[in-house]
Amino acid sequence: MIQVAIAGLGTVGAEVFRILGMHPEFKITAVSARNKSKNRGLDMDGVVWVDNPTDLSTRSDVDVVVELMGGESDPTYSLVKTALQNKKHVVTANKSLLAHHGAELFQLAKENHVGLYYEAAVAGGIPIVKLLGEGLVANKISSISGVLNGTCNYILTTMERTGRGFDDVLAEAQTLGYAEADPTLDIDGGDTAHKLSILSALAFGGSPDLKSVSVTGIRNITANDIADATQNGQVIKLLATAHKDNDGRIVQNVAPCRLPTTSPFSQLDGVLNGVLIEGDLVGQIFISGRGAGAQPTASAVVADLMDIALFRERVGLL
Ligand code: HSE
Repeated sequence: MIQVAIAGLGTVGAEVFRILGMHPEFKITAVSARNKSKNRGLDMDGVVWVDNPTDLSTRSDVDVVVELMGGESDPTYSLVKTALQNKKHVVTANKSLLAHHGAELFQLAKENHVGLYYEAAVAGGIPIVKLLGEGLVANKISSISGVLNGTCNYILTTMERTGRGFDDVLAEAQTLGYAEADPTLDIDGGDTAHKLSILSALAFGGSPDLKSVSVTGIRNITANDIADATQNGQVIKLLATAHKDNDGRIVQNVAPCRLPTTSPFSQLDGVLNGVLIEGDLVGQIFISGRGAGAQPTASAVVADLMDIALFRERVGLL
């Protein structure tokens, strides 16, 4: 039995709570969220409510802290840090936290012999972290590129299809639960940069280097730009790219790009994300799927929890 604490009960946290209810190998012992009185339709019987999320990290009835609060500052940063220091595994969907503090937090996890799992932090339901960290681990990766923000892709494809205005479609993406709490992170490319820095670290080694990412968002893309691209047989996507230059430096860019309709990225509709990887042994791999939303993100969070369960089973702890 793995005892789980969940910090953050927004759309993703509530979905994780619901899914774990179907898996008897997990027991949710404690939760923390901003709004205690909100009716989330969850059965909280026997679950301790903690007002200060950092208190989750010291409880003896918690083996794993699932961090779904978001943001790179406190209380999130302190929660994750103290959880690792107290030898709790951490599962997080928080790309911003890892992009800013990844080096320190991964080191802390190593020193305390626990895992810091983050499949849900990049590309929602696409298992890109496992793909790079396990499946392609024998390869030398020469480049990685991706459409990594569901909100931007939703806005661009919906504008293209309907001719509707930017603000109107952004509001819809927020209602559907795709956008960040601060949607400027989506539309100005910051969220994509967070995710790219994490993928680059996985693909090329080292820690996420957010400061070196050159970032342009989609805020200034007009209906005219989209119509012009369409007339020229092109599609506009917010593309993240990373490669090593001749001096071994990792070059990372996020910018709107005009792509031919034959590009695999051009086929990505709505909230879909896609990642193209070039490995020396495997050649090109393209993977796509739902990159935002409660269920795809919860799918990745629960996969990490199951990894922990599998590991404990292997070492005879379950
Ligand atoms: N706001 C993010 C997106 C959520 O739209 O892709 C998933 O990381």
